Amino acid sequence: MTDAVRLPAPVLCGLGTWLPPRVITNDDLSRELDTSDEWIRTRTGIGRRHVVQPGTATSDLAVEAGRRALKSAGVAAVDTVIVATTTPDRTCPATAPLVAHELGLGTVPAFDVGAVCTGFLYGLAAAAGLLATGSAGTVMVIGADTYSRILDPGDRSTRALFGDGAGAVVLRAGDAGEPGAWGRAALGSDGSGSDMIMVPSGGSRDPIRPETADSADPYFRMQGKKVMRNAVERMAEASLTVAHRFGWGVDDIDLFVAHQANIRIVHAVADRLGLGRERCHVHLDRVGNTAAASIPLALADAAAAGRLHAGDRVVTTAFGGGLTWGAAALHWPDLSPA
Ligand code: UT7
Repeated sequence: MTDAVRLPAPVLCGLGTWLPPRVITNDDLSRELDTSDEWIRTRTGIGRRHVVQPGTATSDLAVEAGRRALKSAGVAAVDTVIVATTTPDRTCPATAPLVAHELGLGTVPAFDVGAVCTGFLYGLAAAAGLLATGSAGTVMVIGADTYSRILDPGDRSTRALFGDGAGAVVLRAGDAGEPGAWGRAALGSDGSGSDMIMVPSGGSRDPIRPETADSADPYFRMQGKKVMRNAVERMAEASLTVAHRFGWGVDDIDLFVAHQANIRIVHAVADRLGLGRERCHVHLDRVGNTAAASIPLALADAAAAGRLHAGDRVVTTAFGGGLTWGAAALHWPDLSPA
């Protein structure tokens, strides 16, 4: 019998984030829509969100976060760039090649991952595969979204929730036992719920053409209540799976970083796991749901708040359109986010 071969693991060695400077508060929204600060805070926990100026696209945010991630990692380049986004600059081509170009990375492989709010974790899993097989020695995964560009200006149920932002990580091939090494992610999907979160028109199912423009719906639509019900169960299950893969019980988790969709969802997942709410990091009050950027933004915020120390056992989890969900865990490395 030979010893099992231990494949290289994706080790977190850089983290950078970017939020557009413009802030929209709940009171700002309530001047435009039939809503209130009280409703939004009580039902979602959100207080404000960052929103791009007209003319700013997802790649602009991704490049800013990517630059900071390179700085945080102390490197000038990576071998591959993966951009997780639901709001690419254009339907075609992917956003990642432009981001790689703007970062001065030359002709490195670059591609997008579309898993909506779970995109960052899917990107992480794709990066893990590239690193494990030796296809890349370093990979940048960027979660970046500008939902403000696809929300219906008149839809209070989505305008209240989403904000724009980007978060990027640099991963290097390392040893599974070292701090910063992500364990194998737990991912899932259920396409029977593909209509719960969608942009109805603008894809190949219902292209927007001059003759159909009047009946097209180019905006993001979500059946919030149904999504919420599914999200809690899936995120709890995936979180337990990745914790167990590290040999952790729920009590061993130092910080729980769930996709920042709604405080009620974050707390419901924690309650279901039997994890004290004080171990959940909450960032959504200041940024809202930033979709694929949510987890890296929340990790950077937790680090800045002094809530992450080298060696801490961290579980991250997300749920989003598709439907898709996932979780991934790591021991926090000695790292300074930028
Ligand atoms: O990132 C991907 C994952 N996304 C999520 O996980 C989002 C999941 N869903 C949610 O966060 C919640 O379902 C919402 C925050 C979207 C809605 O909360 P809810 O407690 O499920 O409310 P509801 O959908 O049952 O709506 C209750 C009422 C409705 O009015 P009627 O039909 O009872 O008259 C809504 O129209 O609240 C109304 N409403 C609002 N009222 C004031 C919805 N949005 C607003 C608003 N302000 N912003």
